[in-house]
Amino acid sequence: MSVISSKDVNEIIRKTLGIINNKIMNHGEITGYILYKMMEYEYTYTEQNYTEQELVDYTMLGILHDIGLYKEENIKNVSDFETKNLWSHSIYGFLFLKYLSPIGDRAEIVLYHHLDYNRYGLIQSRYIHVIELLNLADKMDTVLHLKDEKIEPDYFVKYRDVKFSGAALDLFHKAEKCYGITENLVNGSYHKELDVLLAKRAFSEQYKRGFLEMLVYTIDFRSEHTVIHTLATVYFAEQLGRLARLSGKDMRDLHYGALLHDLGKIAIPLNILESTGRLSDDEMKIMKAHVRITEMILEGVVDDDVLQIAVRHHEKLDGTGYHRGLSAKDLTLPQQIIAVADILSALYGKRSYKEAFSKEKILEIMNSDADKGKINRNVVTTLEKNYDNIIQAFEKEKESTIGLYLKIKEQYAAMIERFERFG
Ligand SMILES: [Fe+2]
Ligand SMILES: [Fe+2]
Ligand SMILES: [Fe+2]
Repeated sequence: MSVISSKDVNEIIRKTLGIINNKIMNHGEITGYILYKMMEYEYTYTEQNYTEQELVDYTMLGILHDIGLYKEENIKNVSDFETKNLWSHSIYGFLFLKYLSPIGDRAEIVLYHHLDYNRYGLIQSRYIHVIELLNLADKMDTVLHLKDEKIEPDYFVKYRDVKFSGAALDLFHKAEKCYGITENLVNGSYHKELDVLLAKRAFSEQYKRGFLEMLVYTIDFRSEHTVIHTLATVYFAEQLGRLARLSGKDMRDLHYGALLHDLGKIAIPLNILESTGRLSDDEMKIMKAHVRITEMILEGVVDDDVLQIAVRHHEKLDGTGYHRGLSAKDLTLPQQIIAVADILSALYGKRSYKEAFSKEKILEIMNSDADKGKINRNVVTTLEKNYDNIIQAFEKEKESTIGLYLKIKEQYAAMIERFERFG
């Protein structure tokens, strides 16, 4: 049995992105659905040969095509971003998908989703056909839903083969006639259809991990410290779990639990996340809410063991933790391990409000917490014995993640300049 089913991966993405901005999330799903139905029509009635995996990949791509928008701090108005900051979110979306997702080789489809049809001659892509379809699917939703006067009533006549592909529009109409796309969108049955599609194809463990990691990094991208904190927590939890000889199942649960443990931070404002001073009581309350938000997102979607590891990372053995105030007898070993890993990661890492601590200081704090009966004594003793090995190995891992983070930023800077000249 798998910890997270394929369709639940999409559900986690849905719920998480929906918390940040429900409109963009819905827009993504609708676009993904329209794209899927157009391709299904081609697959069934024309010579186009897609494999089932390709249909799933392209649908995911359609769902995620505006993922670059989530890195903006203030995303209120989808239409603003969709009409003004075209290149910015297209490039970020491209880079996130390219470097972080399991469908990275197709990321350029997202890069060009706002490029006008009459400029396709300027680019070279073996996915030009899908670019054409995504461009139209995106417009179908944006144009039909904006409902304000900004859109000319004869848009689809006037800009045929100028802003969008006429052949794609014809295909949409055929698919619409055949499947009743707009009706399915209105009555909401498209959700079910997407679920069925994604469930049909059992994602490999790697594919699922890939999307979840992409989600976590995309969201954490707002704050470099958070990216590294998540990575470090996963890494430390795994090392401590291995040393505690956890079973294979516990190890897998621990991995997912650690990966998802701070997902709820998406709802925490950046000025609190990156605060350089002590948080006020009110701010602290907001900060602590991240656990409950994580719970909201993961509840009913992931295996209960994973859920409990994720949402108990701030519990203490003596009952002084949050958000439930549980104590030792309620907390399993993996849950106690993630609590230690989380603290280690916070102490070891440089944060907005503190420098990284030395080995001596870190072990002193952790030993004192163990002595006070707040965290697991055996786990801390094991950590102390293996400290240098764990940290050395982590430093190597970290380099590649930070490297990736910096690479995305650098490439963005280089690309945005080039593409804005492009028009
Ligand atoms: Fe877009
Ligand atoms: Fe879009
Ligand atoms: Fe946390």
